[in-house]
Amino acid sequence: MKVLMGICGSISAYKAPWIARELIRSGAEVRVIMTPDACRFVTPLVMQNISQNPVVIEAFDTEHQEKGSWHVHWARWAEQVLVAPCSATTLAKLAHGIADNALTLALLSLAKETPLRLCPAMDPDMWHHPATRRNLAILQADGALILPPEEGELASGLRGAGRLPEPLQIAEWVFAKRSLSGKTVLITAGPTREPIDGVRYISNHSSGKMGFAIAAEAQARGARVVLVSGPVSLAAPPGVELVRVETARQMLETCQQHYEKADVIIKSAAVADFTPARVAVGKLKKEQLGQNWTMALEKTGDILSWLGRHKRPGQYLVGFALEIQNAEANARAKLERKNCDLVVLNEANQPDSGFGGDNNTITLIGPDLRQPWPPLSKRQCAQRLWDFIEGATGTT
Ligand code: CTP
Repeated sequence: MKVLMGICGSISAYKAPWIARELIRSGAEVRVIMTPDACRFVTPLVMQNISQNPVVIEAFDTEHQEKGSWHVHWARWAEQVLVAPCSATTLAKLAHGIADNALTLALLSLAKETPLRLCPAMDPDMWHHPATRRNLAILQADGALILPPEEGELASGLRGAGRLPEPLQIAEWVFAKRSLSGKTVLITAGPTREPIDGVRYISNHSSGKMGFAIAAEAQARGARVVLVSGPVSLAAPPGVELVRVETARQMLETCQQHYEKADVIIKSAAVADFTPARVAVGKLKKEQLGQNWTMALEKTGDILSWLGRHKRPGQYLVGFALEIQNAEANARAKLERKNCDLVVLNEANQPDSGFGGDNNTITLIGPDLRQPWPPLSKRQCAQRLWDFIEGATGTT
């Protein structure tokens, strides 16, 4: 694949050589155009050595003229265009068709069908500035693909959204299948927290890693992703609409708001089955509770069953089952009882399976299906799950 890579002036340009290297490792041929400011952060010589191609900086450099229209030839050569990092200034120029340097000139010469991928990186105030928001909206309406910046610590010392994602993630995004574009998916993840009093709650050990990996993979494949998560310590995957909730009731209500538009719903959350019948005001004191204390619990609404009952034609519903005994029979019973199309079975007593870890061992259970998978990373599980769902729904 021929990738035209643009680099703008941003401290995160120090990642640009690694991005080029990851692209080349994955089989790409890379040509680089740098804005003059980009050269203050990373030298053209580094990019020339890594890409094994000349680097263009000046639009009128006589070495690259190709009879005066190099920008047209380079734009035609490209099968993919990646600008990483993309500064706020370059976003603004691209949104308004300003071609005042080599990069913006080449990008204004792109054929309509050539994908333009932008990785904005800047300080949080610049990222959230109304002008940047407007420019992003214009570019998205024009068909540009945006990998939003990550949240975290920035070179300025501030914290917030603005970090350029890691080089491998950017390279994977460039090569990702866009097989879910136009689709909306609703995913739930993590545990729920059911309050006992003002300071205590009932919960479980779910880390949310599986659901977040499923959401990130769907986003990379071009879906609009709504991720409803209970309390977890994971950052929102870039480009995913994350709704954070606490209780099973809040998760149910949020799913009820979003389910109608979803083509695929995946319920990987470990929802509490019971919640305290009454939440005590303030803090319960043990002196008042005596030697033995019994707490009344009531059943939570089963979200998956509700979604199964309200499933519209064409909607694909996936449940999760964490089982210890009679795993397959229990998963099959859930498939039927909750009107799912597929159940992802985790056996909690197997190594590399279940809550917390980075790996999972899954068996897919469908009406006429039993498909055991070997232990895989949660990201690989997410990829295989989407491959399966795309096959089952005829998306690919
Ligand atoms: N689930 C849900 N709402 C609940 C409880 C569970 O949506 N109140 C969903 C989970 O997200 C998961 C599936 O149901 O996709 C399986 O949950 P589980 O608690 O294992 O199923 P149960 O039918 O409650 O069976 P049991 O607790 O007896 O294993």
